Amino acid sequence: MPATDNLRSTTMPLNNGSAIPALGFGTLIPDPVATKAATKTALQAGFRLLDTAERYRTEREVGEAMREVFDRGTVKREDVFVITKLWNTNHRPQRVKPAFASSLERLQLDYVDLYLIHTPFAFQPGDEQDPRDASGAVIYDKSVTLLDTWRALEGLMDEGRCKAIGLSDVNLQQAKAIFDAARIKPAVVHVESHPYLPEWDLLNYCKRNGIVFQAFAALGHSSEPRLLDDPVVTAIAARVDKTPAQVLLAWAIQRGSALLTTSKTPARIKENFDVSAIPDDAVREITEGVKSRVRFNAVVETGIPGFIPRGN
Ligand SMILES: NC(=O)c1ccc[n+]([C@@H]2O[C@H](COP(=O)([O-])OP(=O)(O)OC[C@H]3O[C@@H](n4cnc5c(N)ncnc54)[C@H](OP(=O)(O)O)[C@@H]3O)[C@@H](O)[C@H]2O)c1
Repeated sequence: MPATDNLRSTTMPLNNGSAIPALGFGTLIPDPVATKAATKTALQAGFRLLDTAERYRTEREVGEAMREVFDRGTVKREDVFVITKLWNTNHRPQRVKPAFASSLERLQLDYVDLYLIHTPFAFQPGDEQDPRDASGAVIYDKSVTLLDTWRALEGLMDEGRCKAIGLSDVNLQQAKAIFDAARIKPAVVHVESHPYLPEWDLLNYCKRNGIVFQAFAALGHSSEPRLLDDPVVTAIAARVDKTPAQVLLAWAIQRGSALLTTSKTPARIKENFDVSAIPDDAVREITEGVKSRVRFNAVVETGIPGFIPRGN
């Protein structure tokens, strides 16, 4: 059991000398009105980490929600850890700075706490976020490597407008390659992870190298097979008098991961912030007793986002 069982206030040290809240709120919500309302509710409930991306098309709503909450004076900009991401169509180094500046403008911010390369796949540059050929196949851009794009993010760090940089949707080999070559090492690796996809090798690599491992889809994205209905998880929830979601979020933090969860439902947003530690034997029971292995989002294989409906 951690020193404090109040996991919702847990932070993890970052390699830039600051810290990141372990419990984060994701804003991949298709409806813009719901995104703004959920972001405000999350901040009011106590979440102090917001995750968005150019590709989600939610930066503007997240920016408006933050502005309204900050203007009320109860939460300050510097109390919130804001993450956004560079999309695949902006991997060419000369496109990175303008893409980053547009994200800041939509967010109404003058810096972000963490800027991620959304996926390791470069797509044909341009305004079309989902470039396809006549047969419907994605058009990739072979002229740029992940390291070229990483160097451009290092340049942003030098200018001081993002406090940390990191990778998303990478495998262990890709994370290692960038870590070894980088002048500024990745602060965070952000990937799908939950008991059906524990990613122990990547988590342990991150721990050894001072990188924060941040899990998305911590509740399994409400996809089938439903992690929230897994019998190991529901039995522990009944035993420790918590909800299955609270058990899954506690498991993630107690094994040393940061995480992102999302909801557009106010009661669930509050439930998901109300996370406290579960007994060590319950952590072990999930680690050892959940045998299913499922990846819900195939973005790591193609760069095509699995949770964003086509046509968006
Ligand atoms: N880098 C990437 O490629 C990538 C990909 C995917 C996601 N992400 C990030 O990770 C964030 C989280 O991912 P995710 O959306 O898959 O998270 P998730 O928390 O695993 O799944 C969200 C789903 O779970 C439901 N839910 C939330 N809390 C619940 C609760 N207490 N009880 C029952 N159901 C609950 C939500 O329903 P309601 O909304 O209906 O309440 C929603 O359908 C995203 O918002 C995004 O910021 C990054």
